[in-house]
Amino acid sequence: MNPALKWLSDSYETMLLELTEYLSIPSISTDPLHANDVVLCAEWIEAHLKKIGMPLVEIHPTDRHPIVYAEFTGAGPKKPTLLLYGHYDVQPVDPIELWTTDPFKAIVRDDKIFARGATDDKGQFFAHIKALESIIATSGSLPLNIKIIIEGEEEIGSPNLFSFVRANAEKLSADAVAVSDSSMIGPGKPSILTGLRGLCYLQVTVVGPNRDLHSGSYGGPVVNPLNALCSIVASLKDSSGRIAVTGFYDDVTDATQEERESFEKLGYSPEVLMKDINVGALNGEAGYSPLEQLWIRPSLDLNGILGGFTGEGAKTVLPSHAMAKISMRLVPHQRHDDVVEKVREFIHTAAAPGVSVTVTDLHGANPVLVPVNSVAVQSASKALEETFGVPCVFHREGGSIPVVELFDSVLNIPTVLMGFGLKTENLHSPNEHFHLENFRRGMQSAVRFYHHYAKASTL
Ligand code: BES
Ligand code: MN
Ligand code: MN
Repeated sequence: MNPALKWLSDSYETMLLELTEYLSIPSISTDPLHANDVVLCAEWIEAHLKKIGMPLVEIHPTDRHPIVYAEFTGAGPKKPTLLLYGHYDVQPVDPIELWTTDPFKAIVRDDKIFARGATDDKGQFFAHIKALESIIATSGSLPLNIKIIIEGEEEIGSPNLFSFVRANAEKLSADAVAVSDSSMIGPGKPSILTGLRGLCYLQVTVVGPNRDLHSGSYGGPVVNPLNALCSIVASLKDSSGRIAVTGFYDDVTDATQEERESFEKLGYSPEVLMKDINVGALNGEAGYSPLEQLWIRPSLDLNGILGGFTGEGAKTVLPSHAMAKISMRLVPHQRHDDVVEKVREFIHTAAAPGVSVTVTDLHGANPVLVPVNSVAVQSASKALEETFGVPCVFHREGGSIPVVELFDSVLNIPTVLMGFGLKTENLHSPNEHFHLENFRRGMQSAVRFYHHYAKASTL
């Protein structure tokens, strides 16, 4: 047996304790009250990377949350360099009352570890850290050069990572980048993603009269901002599920027939999804299967809406303002900036007179496609197949990881999106967890991947 793989199984209890410690740091990037915890988490990662033997580890402060960078170049110029990307920030925990255990006191139950960040993305990235440690501990070196970039702002749209990557393109130069921050297609089915959707997240504020008004004395002639907002929201999509914004589909490229057929072969069951989330029907865009709606078609969702009276009983009031948060998932080759302008224009045109509407771009990401024929992807696929005992499945994903498209366009290197999570692990939701079986297999897959990639692409 490969000594690194043996080391992984011998050290398993210790690494669970370490992971528990890592998960106990409430690195919630969006919450200013947790800014200091985010820094503590960056420092924890820094110390840990030093401890496993990474020769160079740095913290780069940004305008908001720090970026941790590490590198090992000891394999020499004849060996490839692999850049590993992950994020150490997590989502907020609300609604906290729905957690059955403390989100920042990880506990193991039924071979799953429960905590905020367990699968997104602390646990998944930790699998790479332990894989590196196992090889360093058993051989004193690594078979390839490694660069690590782990950020604390992914869940808020990576606002400072983009300029860091652009300014440090030379420092980050590598032959491939690997990201484990996604889900497998199902239990026991290892996956590599071939595409991610992008994102456009807007806040729409509608302001009407200078104060709340009596809805009897004023209702009728006065435009109600909450009604006006609801009309705007309702006008964004038509009854067949298509987004009605003028020009929205201009840059959408259809997936090939071959790719659409490959989705069919995945044996995806909408019934399983409906049962999991307890709904009686799905109702997406006409003419596309649920997987196509998730992976190759854009979507538009209201994430939250605020306004007026929502207390106990009834209060007759015409509210003075209203606000909505709207997200759109984008597909190749839509661009986030372009979509913002089209939607802004549409919303302003749709707005009733007598109210003022503001559209704010909160964050976004461009969609990305990942070719499957790179040496890196092929090496990863082989490693996953050896570890899981079944062939790796290639598919797309509906979520977004903003920096992936930037790595593609700025660093110009192939990406490997090898997620170890499962969709059902409650990411961004109460009782987030990570199946430890996939943590173990993730570490083993990473060890095998580094070796295969080092061998296959010796320069
Ligand atoms: N890891 C997720 C993205 C993801 C989840 C990819 C599942 C594939 C499968 C990431 O942390 C995330 O939540 N991204 C955000 C984007 C961001 C700009 C807030 C998303 O997709 O909502
Ligand atoms: Mn993530
Ligand atoms: Mn996330």
